[in-house]
Amino acid sequence: MRILLTGASGLVGAAFAESASRRGHQVVGLVGRATFSIPGLAEKRALDLADPEALTSLALELFPDAIVNCAAVSEPAHCEADPVRSQQLNVVLPATLARLAHHLSARLVHVSTEQVFPGDAPPYSVGSAPRPLNLYGRQKLESEKQVHAAAPEFAVTLRAPLLTGNSPSGARSLHERLLADWAAGKTPRLYRDEIRQPCTAGNLAEAMCELCERRDFRGVLHWAGAEPLSRVELARRIRARFKLTPEQAPIAEISRADDPSAARRPADLTLDCKPLAGALKTPLETFDAQLDQLIVPPPVRAWFASLG
Ligand SMILES: NC(=O)c1ccc[n+]([C@@H]2O[C@H](COP(=O)([O-])OP(=O)(O)OC[C@H]3O[C@@H](n4cnc5c(N)ncnc54)[C@H](OP(=O)(O)O)[C@@H]3O)[C@@H](O)[C@H]2O)c1
Repeated sequence: MRILLTGASGLVGAAFAESASRRGHQVVGLVGRATFSIPGLAEKRALDLADPEALTSLALELFPDAIVNCAAVSEPAHCEADPVRSQQLNVVLPATLARLAHHLSARLVHVSTEQVFPGDAPPYSVGSAPRPLNLYGRQKLESEKQVHAAAPEFAVTLRAPLLTGNSPSGARSLHERLLADWAAGKTPRLYRDEIRQPCTAGNLAEAMCELCERRDFRGVLHWAGAEPLSRVELARRIRARFKLTPEQAPIAEISRADDPSAARRPADLTLDCKPLAGALKTPLETFDAQLDQLIVPPPVRAWFASLG
């Protein structure tokens, strides 16, 4: 299958390129500013995705069987800092891709977030009412609506959780950020009562590949890891995975009640992954299975080696 992939240089996009090429697909990957090579791509092109005309002519030239959208402004703080750019990437781009998918009769796999939910009444099923607390969540919710209005018969959206795994930059995923803090001598402040249900980008990518290959799933669906865990528990287990001591990798444990800014963060984003979980060959991953895949990211290798 010929797949047009946006965001090929990101955490999820790079994982998707590897999974899809392993499964025999031909992936043309679009990047923005990244210049590094991305394993699994049949072809890499640089394109500003804020330019819908350039994107449209490229899609018409390639005539893909499937379009996979992994491009986004995926940091809530970056959305608040530049709402115009984030609207372009998080809402206008997926709507354009959905119109193209409809025109080309192509499968569209889009990625949204658990942050469409407020976190006060878990677990969240696909039927739960969204109520985002931040601009990022509002934009992603709007993208879901526009995608499924434009291509109801071709599109599937996965609401994904906090992601683990190894990113191309070595600075994007959960363990990479924690290790970067510890390498810089910082003590991350982590909530003991904020719950997330991570999976690796690679596991999400496998599920997305399956959804490219079979068109019987449509609409908005949930994907996550097998276990909801607190931020503190996640960090402790990452610390143990890399055999770091509490002195080398300190954690400041806090409660949401101690922090006024916690009100703007969803407390518990446990997802109910029915009906997709069990219906795909890709399993939901335990956190131990995720830990086994993590490597020391290049930006902190010198620090890690210095620990002896
Ligand atoms: N990371 C998470 O924990 C998480 C959790 C839930 C859902 N998601 C969702 O998963 C999807 C992928 O997220 P991610 O974490 O993989 O994102 P990411 O690592 O931040 O990557 C973003 C991608 O978008 C591309 N991009 C941004 N602006 C662009 C532009 N103007 N033109 C061309 N490309 C542009 C970037 O390209 P360059 O770097 O080459 O410029 C990069 O490839 C997003 O929809 C996100 O909302 C992520």
